[in-house]
Amino acid sequence: NNDWIKAAEVSEVESDGTFGVELGGQEICLYKLDDGIYATDGKCTHGDAYLAQGFIVEGSLIECPLHEGTFDIKTGAPTGAPCSVALKCHKVKVTDGVIYIHLD
Ligand code: FES
Repeated sequence: NNDWIKAAEVSEVESDGTFGVELGGQEICLYKLDDGIYATDGKCTHGDAYLAQGFIVEGSLIECPLHEGTFDIKTGAPTGAPCSVALKCHKVKVTDGVIYIHLD
């Protein structure tokens, strides 16, 4: 579909922080990095963990709270064991301080 869904206000996401939302039955994690807002699926591909409860490390990696595996927030690529399956990334646009996500 071609719909952009309102996910959160930019002000709700802390700098270098995460923010978990549920959109259309999907768990999504938002991130505020130095160069903008990013979004990925909210659950780790390795296990049953919410990435919004993890930590941003090295500027653009998300560290899972359960086994400390990592993913590149911008590409979804797994970057640290035990993560080996890519995380799905979602398109983001920001208009008037509101974050919209495009769910494919
Ligand atoms: Fe995320 Fe295992 S559940 S690294």
